[in-house]
Amino acid sequence: MNLFIRYIYLSAIVTGSFLFFIAQPALADDCIQQRKTPKAPAKIYKQTNPLESTAEVLSAGEQLYNKGAKPLACAKCHGAQGGGNGKMAAGMKPNPRNFVCKAMMQDIPDGQLFWVIKNGSKGTGMMGFKALNDNQVWQLVSYIRQFSN
Ligand code: HEC
Repeated sequence: MNLFIRYIYLSAIVTGSFLFFIAQPALADDCIQQRKTPKAPAKIYKQTNPLESTAEVLSAGEQLYNKGAKPLACAKCHGAQGGGNGKMAAGMKPNPRNFVCKAMMQDIPDGQLFWVIKNGSKGTGMMGFKALNDNQVWQLVSYIRQFSN
C-alpha cells in the first residue's frame, strides 16, 4: 500500500471510532424530547405526589387517562401505552410527551406534571384540565409515572 493511501485509511478508522464513541450516549437517550413546556411556579414544582401508587389509585388514574378526562382523554394524544403516539398525535408539533422515556421522565418532578395537567402548555395541543380536582390530577400523575417504571 502506498503511504498516502495508508494514511487516509488509518485516519478514517481513527475518526470513525471516535465518532462511534461520542455518539453512544446520544443513542441511548434518543427518546428524550425537546421540552419547551413552561415551568411550574417554584412552590408547585417542588411538590411530590401525596398519593401512594396503590391499585385503587392506579385504576382511577387509568380510567381518567383512557376515558374519563374531559374534554379529551389523555390516551388520544399520549397513546394507550404512554408512548406519545395516540391517534391524534400524528403531525402534532410539538409532539405529545412520551411517558415511556425514562431518561426524560426521571428529570421531570411530580409538581411539574401536576401543574401542566391543570394548566396545559399554551400554543400546543396540551390543554389545561380545569375540571379535574387535585386528587384526580395526582391519580393521573401516578398513572403516567408507571409507564416508565
Ligand atoms: C390533544 C392532545 C393532548 C391531550 C388530549 C393531552 N395531552 Fe398532554 N401533551 C400534549 C402535547 C402536545 C404535549 C407537549 C406540550 C409541550 O411540549 O409544551 C403534552 C404534554 C404533557 C405533559 C408534559 C409536561 C412537561 O412538563 O413536560 C404531561 C404531564 C401531559 N401532557 C399530561 C397529560 C394528561 C394527564 C392528559 C389527560 C388528562 C393529557 N396530557 C392530554 C397533548 C395532549
